[in-house]
Amino acid sequence: MGDATIPLIDLRHAPLKAVVPRELRPPNGLLIDQLGRPLRDLRISVTDRCNFRCSYCMPKEVFDRQYAFLPHSSLLSFEEISRTARIFASHGVQKIRLTGGEPLLRKHLEVLVGMLAALRTPQGQALDLTLTTNASLLTRKAQALRDAGLQRITISLDALDDAIFRRMNDVDFPVADVLAGIEAAARAGLAPIKVNSVVKRGVNDHEIVPMARFFREHFGHAVVLRFIEYMDVGSTNGWAMDHVLPSSEVRRRIEDQFPLVAMRASAEGETAQRWAYADGRGEVGFISSVTQAFCHDCNRARLSTEGRLYLCLFASQGFDLRPLLREEQANDEALAAAIGLIWSKRDDRYSQLRGLNAAPPNTGTRKVEMHYIGG
Ligand code: GTP
Ligand code: 5AD
Ligand code: SF4
Ligand code: SF4
Repeated sequence: MGDATIPLIDLRHAPLKAVVPRELRPPNGLLIDQLGRPLRDLRISVTDRCNFRCSYCMPKEVFDRQYAFLPHSSLLSFEEISRTARIFASHGVQKIRLTGGEPLLRKHLEVLVGMLAALRTPQGQALDLTLTTNASLLTRKAQALRDAGLQRITISLDALDDAIFRRMNDVDFPVADVLAGIEAAARAGLAPIKVNSVVKRGVNDHEIVPMARFFREHFGHAVVLRFIEYMDVGSTNGWAMDHVLPSSEVRRRIEDQFPLVAMRASAEGETAQRWAYADGRGEVGFISSVTQAFCHDCNRARLSTEGRLYLCLFASQGFDLRPLLREEQANDEALAAAIGLIWSKRDDRYSQLRGLNAAPPNTGTRKVEMHYIGG
């Protein structure tokens, strides 16, 4: 490869080595980190590419034609992903989310979905298997994904107003096609459907009430809309606290129109606070990663497209599992032990520390990018 293909700013960082401990303790379905948090949720990024250029995630100025995305040889194969996921399941992972970039850009994704749907927890249960997508390819793929064993789906949609949405995705993609994707997902039987909307003050905050109205009136219980506080992920989006509209304010605006009743969390480590519409027409959620950090029970691990294990969305480095999977040909016991060692040393709680005004642990280093690690 010539010099011209080397990116000016490489946003990925040298990985940390994944070490196989001398003593191989077999997984027993419960892995606890330094802060007493079990490992339950694995998010797998299947591509670092996306066909959108949302300014808060992949700003066009950075992610242009010159940008060097991962070469195909770097990506974990479906076999490598499903093997790794199986070992995570033996450590107690109960939920798998496929992300990207845009995961539906990965060719034959339904084949991977089929492989992951066959995995079982140590108690013999199927995993909760889901996927986050921008829905641009969903009308075509919803049924095949469902047939392969995908249970539910989460769709990102930041505005209902077509002009605002086209501006936010920055590739002129129309809202109507995302809504058609949501309909296709519902027809295919993917349920529940969640719609995630990142709120950026002054950009789409006037879309909050129209979105709440639309989804409760058109979809009722079939779609759960969730508003996400805009976060300081990565280093390219120019985040500032002024851009964040606190969830308390988002909720107040919705409650002014549609009274809400608090619901209980449905699972430990849940990101969203759930509220039901008092008139029974479904629910709405708030993900307050900035104003009310939920690190205390964060049970999520993230596997990048090239096989690096990240312990926090705000980490700057991940542990490289790929050499163990490929060159070193580690057996399952060794791989499980390496993962166990990494999780048992974990003490990440970035959002909580930022909330306390303490210096976040990786100040001064570049954090991993959202398009690379998934949401
Ligand atoms: P469900 O099981 O469907 O409730 O999914 P989830 O809420 O765990 O996952 P989802 O990917 O839908 O998360 C929604 C958004 O919450 C993401 O896009 C992120 O913006 C944010 N988020 C998810 N996990 C974390 C996390 O571990 N830390 C922080 N700070 N934000 C997170
Ligand atoms: N803050 C909050 N959410 C974000 N996402 C991407 N970048 C950010 C950010 N800076 C969300 C997207 C999508 C998921 C993949 O992550 O909206 O729902
Ligand atoms: Fe937008 Fe999601 Fe693509 Fe990022 S990965 S550019 S948030 S659609
Ligand atoms: Fe988990 Fe890190 Fe998010 Fe806290 S900031 S909830 S530790 S991923």
